[in-house]
Amino acid sequence: MSAGPSRAGRLVVVSNRVATPRQIATGGLASAMRAALSERGGLWFGWSGKIAEKAELHHRHEGGIDYATLDLTRADHDDYYAGFANRALWPLFHYRPDLVDYRRSHLEGYLRVNRLFAERLAAMLRPDDTVWVHDYHLIPLAAMLRGLGVRNRIGFFLHIPLPAAELLITLPRHRELIGALAAYDLVGLHTARDLRALETYFLHELGGALRPGGLLRAPDGRTFRAGVFPIGIDTAAVAQAAREAAALPEIQQFKDSLQGRALIIGVDRLDYSKGLPQRFEAYAQLLEREPALQRQVSFLQIAPPSRGAVPEYRRLRHELERSAGHINGKYATPDWAPIRYVNQSFPHAVLSGYYRTARVGLVTPLRDGMNLVAKEYVACQDPRDPGVLVLSRFAGAAQELDGALLVNPADTTEVAEALARALAMPLQERRKRWRAMMDVLERHDLGSWLDAFLDALYATHPARAGQRGG
Ligand code: F6P
Repeated sequence: MSAGPSRAGRLVVVSNRVATPRQIATGGLASAMRAALSERGGLWFGWSGKIAEKAELHHRHEGGIDYATLDLTRADHDDYYAGFANRALWPLFHYRPDLVDYRRSHLEGYLRVNRLFAERLAAMLRPDDTVWVHDYHLIPLAAMLRGLGVRNRIGFFLHIPLPAAELLITLPRHRELIGALAAYDLVGLHTARDLRALETYFLHELGGALRPGGLLRAPDGRTFRAGVFPIGIDTAAVAQAAREAAALPEIQQFKDSLQGRALIIGVDRLDYSKGLPQRFEAYAQLLEREPALQRQVSFLQIAPPSRGAVPEYRRLRHELERSAGHINGKYATPDWAPIRYVNQSFPHAVLSGYYRTARVGLVTPLRDGMNLVAKEYVACQDPRDPGVLVLSRFAGAAQELDGALLVNPADTTEVAEALARALAMPLQERRKRWRAMMDVLERHDLGSWLDAFLDALYATHPARAGQRGG
């Protein structure tokens, strides 16, 4: 617990997905939010995950936390979530303007749902509540709350990258949308690169100004703070789970199935930002370039399907099925499959056992806000015989984990070479690299991220919320 500014009043967390205890028990962010909320009692507000005839609000009190979740109508879900959030903002913010499918009706739906969230939330807020809004689904929420007269402290954290201004300006009505960030008291981002993008956008596109102490001034005179807060994991708990996982029967069985082969592991939502086709191609190159590795290595790619309502995700799924089938068809022998491609998710305890078993963690997104898999892979290693992390330079985690072998995921030959190097790396070098990364993860864990963001948010002055003029 931080000894920073006093945290009077409730904390109110707002996110598109709400992890009620019954819905999900795992996940770094979910457990962090739950810890922060149950510490002093708080409210978690967001989408119920259900599509219904009417946008009905459900209340529940569990584990010391009040949950308020809202159903979405089919049209709201399709325009806001499957539409603008995941067919315009997601691809653009992940540097894929080619995949942006912008439709005015989607933007209208996005604004409509943000307005609906604002109205429902405003009715539940108390004067001394502090509100923390999460992610790209809800960028204009504070501006809409302000419009309804809400003067509370409101913070925002973006869990995905913020792209360069040159890309942001390709979004229709970008000034309205990105400019709406000025209605927050604090905007948190994962990396210095994201912060630079925000500052450049405000200075050059909105004609705002940069004030000392990380303050940005919007053209209407409103100031807000923006800062870098790289999210961490619960390092001690993850390491502990990995130590205990060895005793799980499924981990024992899995190890037996490897028959002594070195394991390469990848774990990602099935998403085009994760660079999975390139990763498969790099692995195929490894097998081609290093025939001695054939039958000596196994690649487990866990990729639970995601956002199936969005056509790009369905296309990717087919592409990966073809690619995995092709590689297995070309290299497999009756007793060895080069790729084990699994479209399923696993409990955290089991995953941590897989991570600990793997000689190489392969994390090669084309872009990623942070990537917690990279951090979890490191925390799960056995300090006596740790594996090697091969990590994309374009994941936020690369800013902190320089003990990894850093690669450009688009250069499949470079990734294949890094895999060969990782598989051959001597124990001493593996230990040195792992220790350097683990030090970072122990210093900057999930609790310290939570404290750093909340201290900075509570240090902002709520009265500024109504302030105008420069
Ligand atoms: O980390 C980015 C993020 O979009 C979260 O906001 C989200 O909950 C998670 O990925 C999974 O995506 P979705 O909620 O669309 O299934």
